[in-house]
Amino acid sequence: MKNVVEIEKMDHMGNGIGFIDGKTIFVSKSIPGDTVIFDIVKETNSFVKAKPKKFVSRNHEALSAFCPYYYQCGGCHLQNMIYEDTLNYKVDRVKNILNRAGIDEDIEVISNDNPKNYRNKIELKIKDSLIGFYEEGTHDIIEIDNCRITKECINNFLPDLKNMNIRNGEVTIRCNYNDELLVSIKTDDNINLNKEDYPDKKVAGIILNDKCIYGDNKFIDIINNTFFEVTYDAFFQVNPFINSKLFEIIKDNVKGKNVLDLYCGVGTLSIVASQNAKKVYGIEIIPNAVVNALKNAKMNKCDNVDFILGKVEDKINLIKDEIDTVIIDPPRKGLDQKTINKILEIKPSNIIYISCETQKLSEDLKSLNTNYDVKKIYILDMFSYTYHCESVCVLERR
Ligand SMILES: C[S@@+](CC[C@H](N)C(=O)[O-])C[C@H]1O[C@@H](n2cnc3c(N)ncnc32)[C@H](O)[C@@H]1O
Repeated sequence: MKNVVEIEKMDHMGNGIGFIDGKTIFVSKSIPGDTVIFDIVKETNSFVKAKPKKFVSRNHEALSAFCPYYYQCGGCHLQNMIYEDTLNYKVDRVKNILNRAGIDEDIEVISNDNPKNYRNKIELKIKDSLIGFYEEGTHDIIEIDNCRITKECINNFLPDLKNMNIRNGEVTIRCNYNDELLVSIKTDDNINLNKEDYPDKKVAGIILNDKCIYGDNKFIDIINNTFFEVTYDAFFQVNPFINSKLFEIIKDNVKGKNVLDLYCGVGTLSIVASQNAKKVYGIEIIPNAVVNALKNAKMNKCDNVDFILGKVEDKINLIKDEIDTVIIDPPRKGLDQKTINKILEIKPSNIIYISCETQKLSEDLKSLNTNYDVKKIYILDMFSYTYHCESVCVLERR
């Protein structure tokens, strides 16, 4: 088979698609209008998965990626597009997936104010002392000294991380509004800590294998003048600007007296919703996140919010009040059937479903569709220059 193809369209995972002799060729990091010589990664009777070796000619709007690791790294997918085109791609992607579930509402797009250096969290792999990300489609490490979509205060800590002499493991570094860092390390190695260096670099805490070995295991973040304590193992959205936009959407769409916030993390959306509600209940599985959520309600003077620790599918039965709005913000795997049935039984007049996995969102909306109409869809560019996006669907009971 020839190893050169003209890219005609794109798939849902940011790959270019071309055809050779009836076979579909998926080439990563290429866009329609590119003609590309490719290396085969996987071949079956019907398709080839490939990566670009050389571009023979490029779409005249294709850009050179702003990250030197782009063509090796598995993190970003769309750096060869101008930013506005990445948004158009995401709108088409979400529309296509939701159309399959019979949903065809207009989409409002919320773009990122600064689509580079936006992430407040980096998740690094360490293998044989190389620190970086997995190479696209493999478990080999691409060593990096700067991630162009991550905040600079995190990148500035990477030399200190190198000095710790970790040979194998995983490290997550987070930062807050004030560029303070929380560093969580998982390794079996003995690590080297230069604690005297850290105060200048605003290291709030270092956690080794779930044990705090420096500073604290949590810090405070601020979004839209609201304070949130966040422990190292609790979920917090990776893009503060887009998170602030999500808060505004929640505030605009919460209706009625009582609100149920499923998968509530450290209570962010519960606290936002509490401004327009009589009572809010949040349910969350991570113990530290629930401790944070209770503290966050106090810190922000919300006395109409309660948090329940446990699995949504188990604890949702504890809610006896009539619920007007259910906020759903599940992990990537979406809702299980038990939870969907219970939501239908609760009969809220309004559902706000937030999703980072459009395929699962579409399946869940199909199940909720029996009693609910989608009234509004937002796409928030939470994960700029990747194919991922955050969608918010507002549903109303028929
Ligand atoms: C996408 S996050 C949303 C968090 C929160 N709404 C926010 O905006 O920060 C999903 C949350 O669901 C929690 N979670 C995952 N599975 C769960 C389950 N079965 N029951 C309750 N919470 C769960 C995770 O720990 C995480 O905090």
